[in-house]
Amino acid sequence: MFRRRLITPRQLLAALLQEMNGSLLTPIVAPPTSPAEKISDLAPIYWLSKAARLPRTGWNVYVRHSLGHPDYVNDPYRVFRKLRAKEPVRRDPTAPVWVVTSYEHTLMTLKDPRFNKDPFLSERLPRGARDQLGMSEGAGARSSVENISMLFLDPPQHTRVRSIFTRAFTPRTLEGLRPRIAEVCIERIEMMAREGETDLIEDLAYRLPVTVIAELLGFPREDYQKLKRWSDEMAEALGFVPSEEAKLRAARARDEMRVYFFDQIVPRLRRQPDNSLLSGLLDLEARGEGLSEDELFSNSVLLLAAGHETTTNLIGNGMLALLQHPQQLDLLRREPALIESAVEELLRFDPPVQWITRVAAQDMELGGKSIRRGELVLAALGAANRDPAVFENPEQLDIRRKDNRHLSFGSGIHFCLGAALARMEAQIAIGSLIERFPNLKLATSRLKWRKGITFRGLQALPLKLS
Ligand code: HEM
Repeated sequence: MFRRRLITPRQLLAALLQEMNGSLLTPIVAPPTSPAEKISDLAPIYWLSKAARLPRTGWNVYVRHSLGHPDYVNDPYRVFRKLRAKEPVRRDPTAPVWVVTSYEHTLMTLKDPRFNKDPFLSERLPRGARDQLGMSEGAGARSSVENISMLFLDPPQHTRVRSIFTRAFTPRTLEGLRPRIAEVCIERIEMMAREGETDLIEDLAYRLPVTVIAELLGFPREDYQKLKRWSDEMAEALGFVPSEEAKLRAARARDEMRVYFFDQIVPRLRRQPDNSLLSGLLDLEARGEGLSEDELFSNSVLLLAAGHETTTNLIGNGMLALLQHPQQLDLLRREPALIESAVEELLRFDPPVQWITRVAAQDMELGGKSIRRGELVLAALGAANRDPAVFENPEQLDIRRKDNRHLSFGSGIHFCLGAALARMEAQIAIGSLIERFPNLKLATSRLKWRKGITFRGLQALPLKLS
């Protein structure tokens, strides 16, 4: 009788793991070569699982709950499924952060005005958590000019700045870009065809958006390399646990770009106005209706950054998803008119931006949980987009999907300003690739994802073209 009630080491371990359930933000930077190297807070689990002769199981079960582990970066959806089913609004066990994984609560987080953008409140996060979220350190970093772009503002300032950009960013302006986007795609694709194989990220997915956004803003073509370098260096500091050198490089890039912006670009456009976005905004400023010069700079940096990293990932993740679902790829080849709904599905299936953060402006309730004023909420777009309560067969890629209300561009007042441009670029890029290369194949089975949890994108996507 007594013997039958004794729990086995396996059951004991399972109960313990369930109890501890791993912190999403436990700062595990890389898988340790020997588990003993990095086990400080994981020691009980490690030793217990070792005693139960299950070292790998114990270790693996634990780390799969950490957003810092490469397994998470390779496939976040496994963790999302589990969290959404078990506790869609969950307070992280070790950090004052709420993690939201259901569609309903993600939408509430994005739309409810009681959640705001105040970036300073996140300063209270422990360093490890901040690093993992790619947040900069210290109030000084937060108050630097690029951090007061519209992305970090709340109403009424947000309303004013955004409305000025919305006036400049009209559907007509965007439609005018279509021929140029097609031209860049053809140029890049023909170059790739001559080579016979390609890294799609480097050769097209990166080049296209950076060229389009830099031209739209009004930067001269000969400066794109410089802009790319600044933009890369600034983006690097938003990555996963940026090194001190990366942070320094980012600060230097920002300073250099500021000098370039105010010494070269602004004076040139004031002397010789053209039909670029920056020129239009400077004109508004001259008439006293526009943005201050600092606001203009911070928002130009935002557009430059937001306008390429994300679209690069959409083209890369999207092509990968199609190559991994050959029937869907064939369907798109047979029916090219499906390209619009295909791109919406690719956005839903593997979104380029995975997390959005908000701060509770007052004590409130979300999904039956009490959220206190000042607490940070992370809404997982990738998890919301696969919520079975909203999407039929959410784990399946279906380029004919109807009523696809994915949240990949966010929702509410911060809904992506560049959504129409990103859609157009992806539709033309993916459509042209498929048309030009009937035998596209992945050239490797070892794909590497970029580190970090906010953006999801491949480091490279090697393809055989014929
Ligand atoms: C596939 C490509 C893109 C994705 C997935 C994407 C995603 C997003 C998301 C999720 C947000 C909302 C952030 C929040 O609520 O906190 C956002 C905002 C924004 N995006 Fe995009 N974006 C993309 C491309 C672009 C492009 C091409 C541009 C510019 C040309 C752009 C400019 C912006 C701006 C300015 C905001 C801030 C809007 C505001 O705060 O009112 N994005 N984007």
